[in-house]
Amino acid sequence: MVFSDFGKRFTGPSGALELMDDMGHALAAGDDGVMMLGGGNPGRIPAMRELFMRRLAEVADDPASFDRMFANYSPPAGDVGFRRSLARLLRSHCGFDVGEEHIALTSGSQFSFFLLFNLLGGVFDGGTMKKILLPVTPEYIGYKDQGLVDNLFTARRSTIKELPDALFKYRVDFDNLPSNEALGAICVSRPTNPTGNVITDREMGRLDGLAQDWQVPLIVDAAYGQPFPGINFVDTQPIWNENIILCLSLSKLGLPGIRTGIVIARPDIARAIASCTAVMNLSVPSVGAALLDEWVASGKIIEFGETYIRPFYQRKAARTLDALRKALQGYPVRVHTPEGAMFLWVWFPGLPIHCKELYERLKQRGVLVIPGHHFFPGLDEPWTHGEQCLRLSYAQDQDMVKKGIGIIAEEVKRAFD
Ligand SMILES: Cc1ncc(COP(=O)(O)O)c(C=O)c1O
Repeated sequence: MVFSDFGKRFTGPSGALELMDDMGHALAAGDDGVMMLGGGNPGRIPAMRELFMRRLAEVADDPASFDRMFANYSPPAGDVGFRRSLARLLRSHCGFDVGEEHIALTSGSQFSFFLLFNLLGGVFDGGTMKKILLPVTPEYIGYKDQGLVDNLFTARRSTIKELPDALFKYRVDFDNLPSNEALGAICVSRPTNPTGNVITDREMGRLDGLAQDWQVPLIVDAAYGQPFPGINFVDTQPIWNENIILCLSLSKLGLPGIRTGIVIARPDIARAIASCTAVMNLSVPSVGAALLDEWVASGKIIEFGETYIRPFYQRKAARTLDALRKALQGYPVRVHTPEGAMFLWVWFPGLPIHCKELYERLKQRGVLVIPGHHFFPGLDEPWTHGEQCLRLSYAQDQDMVKKGIGIIAEEVKRAFD
């Protein structure tokens, strides 16, 4: 079939398609299949699954809740009761000065970003092109192909701060941010997928200040972060003001199947999201809102994150780091200090092969990872650093992760030797 330009743009090869295809096949293959250290699927946390199942049974037993979840279209900004509860929680827990008019739900935060990037960036009246600045790279692969125009993103290399114990941390290179490029917004993920970096409060403060000076919104992608699911292992403050667009998701709580994204922004931006939803989707899914309203109203959603979700991932991060270090002792390996999310970002300085080749060799041996070079959306200048990195997810079964690390170590040693 010959597709339109729109069709060509979205049906060609893309990082997101490759990644989601790999992940879908691996998950469908089950325990006997590939070792899934790729994708961003959340782990199975038994206590959370139990809580979700109990909550779902409560909804199924109550006709009014059932109707709210399944039988009604919600308004295009999403379930009003849920948005009210969330606004209350954000006021009481985070100190954000928001009401329901600041909140729009979407069918997953991936779609929130599609709308935001194309509402704020692209071609404006008179032909001015405004870009979305990604001030930290590596950055989330899923942003890369979302533009309705070419070259929607502009990005900058991070600086690398070496830390003890063969760890390192990416920092925002403020001296290298563009001062004269026409920008539509700045966007960072915090914690960052793929690196597990949580940019510091100081860095956030400076980005917030720059965004205000430049009169562009600062989009903060907190799909893994605060206030929920709270997969951050360092103590930082969530931040919001009328110039910040905070994007949350219910996926990393363990519910990617219900496709619920949350945009918290000034009312005209929240309304714009709802208008786009009405045209493109009519309405947003009600399942997440009806399922979790009670937890949001009571604050349990934050408590469960702190009690069950964060410790689950933090424990796994420590074990995976330990296994990796043992398996690669004596070889050049550096790991981004794990501060959140569900990934280890591993750098093999001087790796003699491209990480793409390493990815292929690992795939042949049944281990799925993501090669590092994908994670530099919008970066024009070549950076060999990215070709020496891999992203490993530690969300899945620990024995499988450990076995996968054994094979990664064999292949990395083979490449160096
Ligand atoms: C940083 C980041 N943002 C956004 C998303 C999109 O998540 P969802 O569309 O499931 O809410 C992901 C998914 O992996 C992610 O890693």
